[in-house]
Amino acid sequence: MATPATKVYVITGGNIGIGFQLARNILTSQTHARVVLGCRDKTRADNGVKSLQEFIDPATNNAVEHRPLDLASLKSVHAFADDLTKSFPDGIHTLVLNAGLMVHSRTMTEDNYEMNMQVNHLSQFLLTQLLLPLLRVGSEKTPGGEASVVCFISSTLHKPGTGRGKGPELTIENIDGSVEFEGMLIYRNTKLCQAICMHALAATLKDDRSVNVNAVCPGFVPTTDLKRDSGLATRLLMNNVLSKISAATTVEVAGTRVYHAISGENRAKNGIYFSEDAVSESSEESRDPEKQKIWWNWTCKSTGYENLCQA
Ligand SMILES: NC(=O)c1ccc[n+]([C@@H]2O[C@H](COP(=O)([O-])OP(=O)(O)OC[C@H]3O[C@@H](n4cnc5c(N)ncnc54)[C@H](OP(=O)(O)O)[C@@H]3O)[C@@H](O)[C@H]2O)c1
Repeated sequence: MATPATKVYVITGGNIGIGFQLARNILTSQTHARVVLGCRDKTRADNGVKSLQEFIDPATNNAVEHRPLDLASLKSVHAFADDLTKSFPDGIHTLVLNAGLMVHSRTMTEDNYEMNMQVNHLSQFLLTQLLLPLLRVGSEKTPGGEASVVCFISSTLHKPGTGRGKGPELTIENIDGSVEFEGMLIYRNTKLCQAICMHALAATLKDDRSVNVNAVCPGFVPTTDLKRDSGLATRLLMNNVLSKISAATTVEVAGTRVYHAISGENRAKNGIYFSEDAVSESSEESRDPEKQKIWWNWTCKSTGYENLCQA
């Protein structure tokens, strides 16, 4: 009997948090899966891979590894995409845009973008564009030509009237936080940009049977490291109080929800926003074609991808 083809799952981040739990789900539910984590810190990445290896049953032929990716650098995104393109001539099967941060003081990247916006949105958009050819090859090589999948880890905070704090309020004038900077406002703006571009990308791919793109909000998980740049009071509040409220969930449950979004019949869906485990609706603004045009064009221009993107 022929050996089943290896399926390559690329996850940005994933050495800890929700992405780690997603990788764990893949490694304990699939066979012939190769999980590649894109990580910025070698020691943290080594630790994550070592912990994940403990969940692998050798009979599954599964494997996990990490490769360098710093989303605060467009150069690093190009290098990561080149590395994957050389390493996986049979393509990749799934790309999960998981990495994220919430930096509470205004910091600019080497590319002169605001840190939250570049890491959470711009770089992962660029990565997706660079990996589309590899995702198409992955689909061709999959028995039955099953579509490859791109999954954005979104947040309900992209919607107005949810959670605490200001926003989202997406304007070109304040896209870098130079008019008004507040960590939560900027974080919410990054998640809205992501949701807008998910829909715009899904629209460009709607006649392309080889790649589907979706987004999932995995729920509120106050115990992850996402708050690491917040003040001590916020961290204590998240760990000791908010983690006990009924709206909060565990990192294990959140990782399983993301796994469900990239599994089974959900892989055939395109342009869907999942909230936790259910098909839901992203904000009105994210579904507005005029807004999609504005933010798609801005994103393409900012990532130097202007000529290859189609709105
Ligand atoms: N926690 C929640 O309540 C919640 C709710 C909805 C959505 N989300 C989303 O879920 C995703 C995962 O968040 P989490 O809660 O699991 O947080 P987390 O535990 O802090 O994990 C974030 C991951 O992103 C990586 N990362 C950060 N900056 C990076 C960079 N410049 N380059 C490469 N990787 C980078 C981190 O790597 P390091 O270890 O090197 O820092 C880590 O692996 C995020 O997109 C977040 O917005 C979270």
